[in-house]
Amino acid sequence: MNILLLGSGGREHAFAWKIVKSKNCKQLFVAPGNAGTAQIAHNVSISVTDFDAIGKFVLEKKINMVVVGPEEPLVKGIVDYFAESEDLRKIPIIGPNKKGAQLEGSKDFSKKFMEKCGIPTAASKTFTSETFKEGLAFIELQELPVVLKADGLAAGKGVLICNSHDEAKSSLREMLLESKFGKASEKVVVEQFLSGIEVSVFVATDGSNYVILPEAKDYKRIGDHDTGLNTGGMGAVSPVPFVDQQFLDKVEKRIVIPTIKGLEMQNIHYQGFLFIGLMNVNGDPYVIEYNVRMGDPETQAVLPRIKSDFVNLLHAMGTKQLEAYHFELEKFCTTTVVMVAGGYPESYKKGNEIQGLEQTAGENVVVFHAGTQLATTGEVLTNGGRVLAVTGMGSETEIALKHAYSTVEKISWNDVYFRKDIGQDILKLKK
Ligand code: AMP
Ligand code: GLY
Repeated sequence: MNILLLGSGGREHAFAWKIVKSKNCKQLFVAPGNAGTAQIAHNVSISVTDFDAIGKFVLEKKINMVVVGPEEPLVKGIVDYFAESEDLRKIPIIGPNKKGAQLEGSKDFSKKFMEKCGIPTAASKTFTSETFKEGLAFIELQELPVVLKADGLAAGKGVLICNSHDEAKSSLREMLLESKFGKASEKVVVEQFLSGIEVSVFVATDGSNYVILPEAKDYKRIGDHDTGLNTGGMGAVSPVPFVDQQFLDKVEKRIVIPTIKGLEMQNIHYQGFLFIGLMNVNGDPYVIEYNVRMGDPETQAVLPRIKSDFVNLLHAMGTKQLEAYHFELEKFCTTTVVMVAGGYPESYKKGNEIQGLEQTAGENVVVFHAGTQLATTGEVLTNGGRVLAVTGMGSETEIALKHAYSTVEKISWNDVYFRKDIGQDILKLKK
């Protein structure tokens, strides 16, 4: 099969790494890719939102399946674009259509969807500039802290956890009346704060059947012990000890099944990955958010744990044959440590030469590239905030962590930074 993968992050390098392992992959193209995908596939210089150029490339290269990594092309309707073209319609494309992508693209849509389907989530109400005054009154009645969420995509910055009613009210004003997040905050969801431990569960679906992939825990803050600014994700661990069969059964029964049924009932075309961000509140799962793609860096921890053929999984999702797919897991644990450019998630430099990559080959470790670029002279340069994601594998989380960190120590560049405490909370939970 000839496959086109869209995206350029660590998640896409992990997808590419897994796809080329399959004997069912003949040729893999990645648009636009990074220095890591360039080593194992053909990078193509096409933007993930240039649908005309993607469609043309798919037909020219006789691509048999398209896999969409990031949310932006999904929210902008790439799946609908394929469905509307007579030539492209028959080519499986992995990801939901525009309506389905609203589960991530609009918090208001996803809250209403969950309410309609009876899926456990924080109680909430949505406000606009017209209902601003009602919003202020609603905030007064909430227990603290109270959570404010910009409705649209806001580059991971649209969620505010407010510790006083005054702070919440002035934030609501900034979002609704002063366009704090531009169009993304034309609507604001005000919701109850949920207290517990977060975990992410990933589902692969063909629209009616599904496979639950390994869960993962993400480390969102820049600093050790969850301090400092929010980032795209500084590390991941899989499995997560409290996600036992009993918890997973609740997730499946109360969340996964009603979600897939709800999508079907609303005629929403969804053949792709669903990332469910959950809060474990005293043993009961509540949905914090849906994402309509895999997570980054969670993918770098989750995909190595899949034993069964990954291209077959993707193809079964894209052709509605998931019922017959035999899903198998590896026995080992994984931990991923993200190495970033100093200054991230604020301003940072690009173009620093990365040293030590050649010493990192090993059975128990994979170095996934994220923001990297190959210089014309052959060196690998930093080209983004999150630069590399190093995944260690081991029979226990502790061993996986040793493999990841001993590799991280071998890699360097001018202003490299990484968290030193990935997985430490998990080790404590296990004791
Ligand atoms: P989101 O963009 O919806 O994932 O929110 C970002 C982060 O804010 C989540 O990962 C949680 O840590 C936190 N968060 C969001 N909603 C809630 C909530 N209702 N209660 C507690 N924390 C929340
Ligand atoms: N790591 C969180 C995300 O991919 O949204």
